[in-house]
Amino acid sequence: MSWLPWLMCGVMVVACANTEQSKLKVLVLFPFPSKSHSILGDGVVRHLIKAGHEVTYITPYVKKGLTPKLRQIDVSDNFKAIDITVEQLNLKTIIMNKGVSFSIFDFFETTLNIFNMTFHNDNVQKLLRDPKEKFDVIIAEWMFNELYATFSAVFGAPYIWVSTVQPHWMVLRLIDEASNPAYTADSHSPSVPPFSFYERVQQLFFQIVGITVQKFFFDPKIEAVYDDLAPIIKQRGSEVPKFDELKYNASLMLGNSHVSMGSSPALPQSYKVVGGYHIDTNVKPLPADLQKIMDDAKDGVIYFSMGSNLRSKDLPSEVTQSLLKVFSSLKQTVMWKFEEVLPGLPENVHILKWASQHSILAHPNCKLFITHGGLLSSTETIYFAKPIIGIPVFADQFVNVDRAVKVGIAKRVDLSFTMADELKAAIEEMLNNPSYTRKVEELSFVYHHRPVSPGAELVHWVEHVARTRGAPHLRSPALHVPLYQKMYLDLAAVVFIILIAITKLIKRLFRKKNTEKKKKKTN
Ligand SMILES: *[C@@H]1O[C@H](CO)[C@@H](O)[C@H](O)[C@H]1NC(C)=O
Ligand SMILES: *[C@@H]1O[C@H](CO)[C@@H](O)[C@H](O)[C@H]1NC(C)=O
Repeated sequence: MSWLPWLMCGVMVVACANTEQSKLKVLVLFPFPSKSHSILGDGVVRHLIKAGHEVTYITPYVKKGLTPKLRQIDVSDNFKAIDITVEQLNLKTIIMNKGVSFSIFDFFETTLNIFNMTFHNDNVQKLLRDPKEKFDVIIAEWMFNELYATFSAVFGAPYIWVSTVQPHWMVLRLIDEASNPAYTADSHSPSVPPFSFYERVQQLFFQIVGITVQKFFFDPKIEAVYDDLAPIIKQRGSEVPKFDELKYNASLMLGNSHVSMGSSPALPQSYKVVGGYHIDTNVKPLPADLQKIMDDAKDGVIYFSMGSNLRSKDLPSEVTQSLLKVFSSLKQTVMWKFEEVLPGLPENVHILKWASQHSILAHPNCKLFITHGGLLSSTETIYFAKPIIGIPVFADQFVNVDRAVKVGIAKRVDLSFTMADELKAAIEEMLNNPSYTRKVEELSFVYHHRPVSPGAELVHWVEHVARTRGAPHLRSPALHVPLYQKMYLDLAAVVFIILIAITKLIKRLFRKKNTEKKKKKTN
């Protein structure tokens, strides 16, 4: 048995060598200057670091005192690109103007500008121009343009997209093909399949208009910016690929989505579902005072937060007062994320300047969540199984809330000067009708009933891409099949020609017979 120790030793050496080898250098790009996007970026980074990899993180939210495994590249200049947007996100302005008006064209310009600012940022340029910098894999958030793939060309490394919403045709066609509008909704449409005739036509229309606008307005601008970047790709000795090749060359797409939060569209092998990975499974304990308030709330707690971009303190004071009046009439305890001290608070209302949303939602006494319906909050709703009242304000919030209403876990209340009455009715309905809680508990079960956690899945697929040099075996064969071939238009053309030929032939035969008959008659 003397070989046993040797064998053990060998196994250990192999194991060590393996872990050494498996340490990856990963570049993570989440440069969009918005808190919720950075939470998703932080989640990716957290899981990779925990798995022992080295991460370089391009972010506008640089944090202090982190592990040496993490290098942050500061792109906080990107905040300049959205100054106006921040002004638009004032709740008072929104309530007065009855909504936020974002044109898709402005939005496109903003995202393009953010890419350009990121790429030309001094800190990023230093990274790009240093020949010693090497990465095994690059992960970038997809934000309405594909220029981030340029980083893959510069470093000669495979890249992975992170799509932050439910899968939709715009992202799916980067790794497979645009989804079928007859049963897959556009990212900005609240429709849930099965579609009515009208909805089906509407979805087709969205897609055709979307593709046309992209092809004729956005793509030329994107390509012009790409041409400017060629010198930097060349300068590292890499070939400059055609943008069209680079754009469709992602190894994977990590989707912040899950069937429990949306529908279940057909997905290609290179789309990996990791929705909810940003939620830390170790819920932090609440501060002692909050813990006591929640423990003591025998009739339950209603948690009200408009998220990190919108501030409740910007609400017009008459709205705030009418909301307080409604809250004071409830027997439940209300915890309101509000950024200022509010004088004359009713006894059952508590103001939180900042709070760990996860910890509050995790508390068993939390009965109802009043939210703007952002994607992260919508995910957390399912995770912690809490029904919601959605007060959507901008972007995908309307869609998220409308979908949640259709699924039966939510009610929608619109932002207005008179919203307090509506909110009161909604609160009463939600607290008295157990169907909302039952449904959200069902969905929560579906969310949690997975073979592995989304964080583990994320790490696995990133490692898979790095170890297989871009996972070419996962690429969809549909990616390079032109539309006319998918629709068999060539076959249709052949059949059409054959049919024409046959009719011509038949006609000629008839004509011949007829003339022969005529000849006989005249004879
Ligand atoms: C991108 O940034 C560079 C450098 O700041 C600038 O010269 C160029 O005009 C910008 N392009 C676009 C399309 O904004
Ligand atoms: C596409 O990705 C593969 C695998 O990562 C890589 O080998 C190839 O060079 C890439 N092509 C382009 C045009 O970037």
